[in-house]
Amino acid sequence: MSIDQGTNSTRCILFDHRGRLVSVAQKEHQQHFPRPGWVEHDAVEIWQNLRRVVPEALSEAGVDAGQVAAIGVANQRETTVLWDRRTGAPLGRAIVWQDTRTAPLVEELRRHPGEDFFLERCSLPPSTYFSALRLRWLFDHVKGLRQRAMDGEVLFGTMESWLIWNLTGGTDGGLHITDVTNASRTMLMNIRTLTWDEELLAFFGVPRSMLPEIRSSAESYGDARSLLPGVAITAALGDQQAALFGQTCFSPGEAKCTYGTGSFLLLNTGNDIVRSRHGLLTTVAYKIGGQQPVYALEGSIAVTGALVQWFRDRLGLISSAPEIETLARTVEDNGGCYIVPAFSGLFAPRWRSDARGVIVGLTSYITKGHLARAVLEATGWQTREVVDAMNADSSVPLRQLKVDGGMTADNLLMQFVADVLDVPVVRPMVAETVSLGAAYAAGLAVGYWADLEVLRRNWHRAAQWLPDMDPALREAEYENWQRAVERSLGWARP
Ligand code: G3P
Repeated sequence: MSIDQGTNSTRCILFDHRGRLVSVAQKEHQQHFPRPGWVEHDAVEIWQNLRRVVPEALSEAGVDAGQVAAIGVANQRETTVLWDRRTGAPLGRAIVWQDTRTAPLVEELRRHPGEDFFLERCSLPPSTYFSALRLRWLFDHVKGLRQRAMDGEVLFGTMESWLIWNLTGGTDGGLHITDVTNASRTMLMNIRTLTWDEELLAFFGVPRSMLPEIRSSAESYGDARSLLPGVAITAALGDQQAALFGQTCFSPGEAKCTYGTGSFLLLNTGNDIVRSRHGLLTTVAYKIGGQQPVYALEGSIAVTGALVQWFRDRLGLISSAPEIETLARTVEDNGGCYIVPAFSGLFAPRWRSDARGVIVGLTSYITKGHLARAVLEATGWQTREVVDAMNADSSVPLRQLKVDGGMTADNLLMQFVADVLDVPVVRPMVAETVSLGAAYAAGLAVGYWADLEVLRRNWHRAAQWLPDMDPALREAEYENWQRAVERSLGWARP
């Protein structure tokens, strides 16, 4: 059984021995945008959703809890939840990874103690993206919180910690743990020792007592006794690392890109900690029990599917996400229009918290069809920027891209990605790789699957898009995209 607690929804999926999907249950949760740039989730709503989807997935499959080998959890990363150790009640809403309220703090940290202080310890640059900045913001803005945390009354977690704490008993003895992949996104874990870093804790003023214990990504954590007594939770991974695992990218040099709310390209770098010189993050890919950790280079793109959602929910130009392709196909090209969706600033490879979204090239000629194309193309160009950075960092250029996630159902988009990258793009049979990866890790921990080779044999190609774009056109368009990006930079003045 895998639980995928994502930015938009919480899902429970059951898989069989061959890695085939048996049943799915899913529930969306509300997105709260209380101020421009702020994004929040209700952690209790998410826990309640999980309590609904788990029995639904079981009953859809017609199996009972006793037939579940193990549970693996994957989750949206970096989103920060605080809760009361005694009552289990969250202290306010969770602050989501897309939230930009800490932008002024980012500028401050860049000046002092400077980017290198962080890169040397956690391999992450100061950015609104990571949890420690939200924690510091909460300490600075919620009266009495710092003292309560010092007194040991408050617990910190990302979504997997929150859910595992509740699943394993909550206030009645729940486990307060995280895994190395999630911890590697907090800005508090040392990337080499894989333990909480004393200097980072001191810098952010975070008492160790509020932090979860860091565990490997696949080992027996404990019994899911509040929901499925007798079934063990044996894996936890950040969703993007789970997707890398689900795509069976187990060897150095293998990469995948998951197209969801945002898009995340991860390249397995083996047991080596590879430092990017071109704006990528170094992150933990997974650690199976007592084995050596495997690392990855990551190109994180904050807004891709979220732009389609915005187009649907906030502009109302389409009524369902798949309609974007139909609308985009009503025109031949973008008509000269480009959209840079810097809603959360720009992440990799630029890391500019001061960027904001722009639409450029508007003329009376532009229709909503052109806008739809520009929406899809924004995802393609952002992928290209990340792949360029990855190629510049590694000696071997990417030769094909494995993709997954909801947006890969869009053929126009996938063709465009192949065109702008100039490499084949391939999608596996099971596109739910986040869930599959969490299930794989959980199953490995209990011997449901013997080893990584067995998992590799489950990977089958379902679709492929081959590049087919005039090189001169590609470069001219890329240049236009970059000019559009220039216009988004610095829009949000500190
Ligand atoms: O780092 C953020 C990422 O984990 C979110 O993924 O698929 O929930 O939008 P997703």
